[in-house]
Amino acid sequence: MSKTATKPKKAPAKGKADEGSHVPIFVMGKRYDVPASLTIQKALEYAGYQLVRGCGCRGGICGACGTVFRFPDSYRIEVGLACQTVVQPDMYIAQIPFFPGNKAVYDIETLPAEGGTIAALYPEVFKCVGCGTCTRSCPMDIDVLGYISKAIQGDIRAVAEGSFDCVMCGLCAARCPAEEVQYNIAVLARRLYARHLVPKAAHVAKAVQAIEGGTFAKALQELKKKNVDELKKLYKALETEPDMAEDSWTPKDRSFLGD
Ligand code: SF4
Ligand code: SF4
Ligand code: FES
Repeated sequence: MSKTATKPKKAPAKGKADEGSHVPIFVMGKRYDVPASLTIQKALEYAGYQLVRGCGCRGGICGACGTVFRFPDSYRIEVGLACQTVVQPDMYIAQIPFFPGNKAVYDIETLPAEGGTIAALYPEVFKCVGCGTCTRSCPMDIDVLGYISKAIQGDIRAVAEGSFDCVMCGLCAARCPAEEVQYNIAVLARRLYARHLVPKAAHVAKAVQAIEGGTFAKALQELKKKNVDELKKLYKALETEPDMAEDSWTPKDRSFLGD
């Protein structure tokens, strides 16, 4: 599973800035002049803010950096991920690092994998008015309204597949007039789908069996005896899988594969 399958979308182009030049941005109403090439996240740091919340992977995957912004000549509220969105002149910026959304509590093991389960845990799903604000707010270009419609229909698989690239940034929920928490509804569907509906992956079961059977125990013991410098050296020398490797690819040195 790769959350990078869909690239986060960028902010719409506004005024142009020369490369190497600075642009004014406004953070909590205060003006800062920052290099035009920076992302919002880097610009905040350039302006002197220390990011202890609302910052995680810095790569468009964790969803921690949901950000709202607006330009003075427009009524529109724009949204984006701070680690992916490049600053633009006169951007007024506010971050929503955590959105206090409704989150159902359940035991996924005993939860029935049937359509009604989503509605039972999140009955507010029926309040959706179909406005599409969630889809327009999504920095991952997900058809959020589409998967919420499938949730209303009780189609667990469609919700799971339609929401696969969700990074749980909370921007859709922040703007939903029906107070849906789309990403928690989606994660319920993905859990139900993965736990009860999708066939078990044979290769994973095989790998778990190998681990439990002690196949890697000797190699692990050897690693545990090494000091930090030895581990670093080993790590640097590690043969990595090429980007376009065949499924059958294995490293030349198989000593840590438990052969
Ligand atoms: S923003 Fe809320 S009400 Fe509007 S389409 Fe999305 S889920 Fe429905
Ligand atoms: S579906 Fe909502 S929470 Fe998920 S990435 Fe899109 S806006 Fe963020
Ligand atoms: S810091 Fe993880 S998505 Fe931006």
